[in-house]
Amino acid sequence: MKTTSKVIASLLAASLAFGSAGYAAEKVDTGKSESSQDRKIVARVEAERAIGHVKYLSEIIGTRPGGLDGEHNAAAYVAKTLKSYGYDVEYQYFPVADQFIANVRLADGKVWEMGAAPNGSISEKSVKGEIIFVPEGKNAKDFSNAAGKIVLMPRGATVSDYRAQVKLAEEAGAKGVILQSLIGGRGNYGQAFNPNLSQKVGIPVYGASYIHGQWLKEEIAKGNKEVALTAKHYSNLQSVNVIATKQAKTKSHETKEVILGAHHDSVVGAPGANDNASGIGLMLELARVYKGYNTDKDLKFISFGSEERGLLGSTHYVDQLSKEEKKNIEAVFVPDMVATNYDKAKNLYAMTVDGSRNTVTESTMSAGARLGNSDILPGTFGSSDHVPFHRAGIPAALFIWMGVDSWEPLVYHIEKVYHTPQDTIADNVSPERMQSALDIIGSGLFDVVRKDVPPVK
Ligand code: BES
Ligand code: ZN
Repeated sequence: MKTTSKVIASLLAASLAFGSAGYAAEKVDTGKSESSQDRKIVARVEAERAIGHVKYLSEIIGTRPGGLDGEHNAAAYVAKTLKSYGYDVEYQYFPVADQFIANVRLADGKVWEMGAAPNGSISEKSVKGEIIFVPEGKNAKDFSNAAGKIVLMPRGATVSDYRAQVKLAEEAGAKGVILQSLIGGRGNYGQAFNPNLSQKVGIPVYGASYIHGQWLKEEIAKGNKEVALTAKHYSNLQSVNVIATKQAKTKSHETKEVILGAHHDSVVGAPGANDNASGIGLMLELARVYKGYNTDKDLKFISFGSEERGLLGSTHYVDQLSKEEKKNIEAVFVPDMVATNYDKAKNLYAMTVDGSRNTVTESTMSAGARLGNSDILPGTFGSSDHVPFHRAGIPAALFIWMGVDSWEPLVYHIEKVYHTPQDTIADNVSPERMQSALDIIGSGLFDVVRKDVPPVK
């Protein structure tokens, strides 16, 4: 890992005219022609600028569930930014399934987003009341104080467990139920969810993240017990990909295409600073820097929608390509979670679905070696937008910071705040890791697309 001084140095270097003695000169051996290409990128990419995009997406916009306004606002921000750099931009819409979103409003005006149960418990009307914490909710006697109250309780492990809890709460006269998620599937804290109720339930039932449950308990302890619940069923939703193209300097029928693509959506309740405003921030920063250089391949920057809902944007994108278009794509670089500050996420992995090496892994591994940056390692992982490309036979890889103890069986570490309301800049973003990812991916990708021609001024 590089230290803070590297980021400070990069800020300094960025403020100096190109060619003057910046930190790139000391970091890279500019005597090698290869390295002088790297230097064009490394001297210019700025983590702080990329994090500025992360700030807009995760703090100004906030949560970005696929198909909803937050996601559309994120797409519009990406499009506006790419246009400001001089790129032509197009939107590609596709339909997505309904969303059931809950809001919990506290007395001080704070509003927290959670998942709402789709079955029978959606109420567009507000339910207001006093919230109480029920530690277990296994027996009717646990609900002796629940009449007329909103009940917060830790969710049982299985769907049938929590269905039983909800039934007891409703029978006891509760006005609403908030189920607190206790654990996530990846060693992370529990995330917001849509409770799956088979029975028709007459009261709102919400799925809160673990931390929202903890925060609600703190509010109760402070005496802030009044909350207002609202939920909404959103239907006829459209999600969207944003596509910008940098055309090759000179075109022929042999001109290849390279893609840098990241998802802009987040899960319900999560501001998604690392997952994946970071990937979008990295993409936008590279788009800005590459604009000054000619390339001999077409380079597409794609912001994918609804990745969190099942890789929907990237799948849609691949599905609408012709056979020839698929064949023409040389490499797909997918940054997804490229700036966590989690100490156990020690390496930036270039992950392919089957562990094979390709143009994406090799170009970035070589860039790391040239730069003297040992953060990058190869690995095997799915779960992101590189998967549909891989399935179509197109070389692709995911870039993600994690710690891997063992590949078989797979034992890995990602941040505990993954998919939670704490995936914020304050809690989960490292400028040093963002800078390292920008340097490595920026130099590796530039090597794949560039032609040694003078920069466009
Ligand atoms: N950024 C994650 C993927 C990820 C997480 C990769 C942890 C490696 C380690 C991504 O946004 C995500 O959560 N993907 C979904 C995909 C699913 C909906 C198909 C996932 O893995 O749950
Ligand atoms: Zn992601």
